[in-house]
Amino acid sequence: MSRLAAHGLVREFRLPGRSRRHPLRAVSDVSLELHAGETVALVGESGSGKSTVARILARLDTPDAGTILLDGQPATPGRRGLRHHHRQVQIVFQDPFASLNPFHTVDHHLRRPLRLHHPALGRAEEDERIHHLLDRVNLVPAGRVAAAHPHELSGGQRQRVAIARALACRPGVLLADEPVSMLDVSIRLEILRLLDRLRAEDDLAVLYITHDLATARHFAHRILVMYRGELVESGPSDAVILDPRHPYTRLLAAAAPDPRRRGTSALAGPDLPVTRVEVPGGTDAGGCPFLDRCPQAMPRCRLRPPLVPLGGGRTARCWLHAADTDPAGSPPGPATTRPPAPPTARPDP
Ligand SMILES: Nc1ncnc2c1ncn2[C@@H]1O[C@H](COP(=O)(O)OP(=O)(O)OP(=O)(O)O)[C@@H](O)[C@H]1O
Ligand SMILES: [Mg+2]
Repeated sequence: MSRLAAHGLVREFRLPGRSRRHPLRAVSDVSLELHAGETVALVGESGSGKSTVARILARLDTPDAGTILLDGQPATPGRRGLRHHHRQVQIVFQDPFASLNPFHTVDHHLRRPLRLHHPALGRAEEDERIHHLLDRVNLVPAGRVAAAHPHELSGGQRQRVAIARALACRPGVLLADEPVSMLDVSIRLEILRLLDRLRAEDDLAVLYITHDLATARHFAHRILVMYRGELVESGPSDAVILDPRHPYTRLLAAAAPDPRRRGTSALAGPDLPVTRVEVPGGTDAGGCPFLDRCPQAMPRCRLRPPLVPLGGGRTARCWLHAADTDPAGSPPGPATTRPPAPPTARPDP
């Protein structure tokens, strides 16, 4: 059973200048599952809806449609339900500078969730837990760090405090929204390794939101690819990165820096056409969201593609893989056959 599951999430924002009938659909029919002990990476370009999904999963935002299940149970409404959810599902944000209050000590930041979620603890037990938490995120000596204010800490140390705070109430799910993108490159890996160790030690279900495909592949068991509010591809990390099936994932993989690759991308697949097929009006008409950028667009892409199971735990929302289920009966597209698999060496992120 999944620790946290979402089915058919939809989130729309009404924006000034847009008619009420055409809100911005930030998240569209997103379903996912997070399992204990597993890291799932959510990747996609800026504005694709990753943070909105995380906020909904953490119940910091309410979807317009869809359901959330925590340990198989529907999210309970009301304050008690919300508090239980917030105890079980914690989120670590991108910006360690903004997420800690500059007026309070580290001790205060860690003691607060303990008091909120474990009011029966005595002062001595709280102290013990705070020291243990700081130890776990390698902030030593714990006593000195606990007395420090955020401005006395480096970005990496602040993010360790944010992670310790997230773990204070012993959650089952950790949502990490670009947890290292604002940190110095030299310490990003340390923080990701720390998260990975904590995942293993606490059997956490982790959602790792990132733009970085190399670390997504290295640290995540599965990768979900998001484009304009939709999940367009999912599957085991190596498979998604080395053999991307959705044209958007192929472009993402092709754009990712790879030191072993010179010039053109080996990951794009040799059969990726260079010319685009013009199929106007598709996205507005509710068709494939990638239609206007897709190098393999076809007339049938004006219809919303189905989510196609590809075997091996993989899915892609793309007509290229759904020739047999095409309701319009149009001929199969040019790339219904799999491209040859690219090299399989694991990159060092
Ligand atoms: N509170 C809000 N009000 C209006 N629009 C919003 C709000 N929150 C998000 N959006 C819009 O929803 C879309 C998805 O935003 P979101 O922050 O989820 O994307 P993202 O994938 O996390 O992007 P990034 O990689 O830049 O963090 C964007 O177009 C964004 O402008
Ligand atoms: Mg975001």
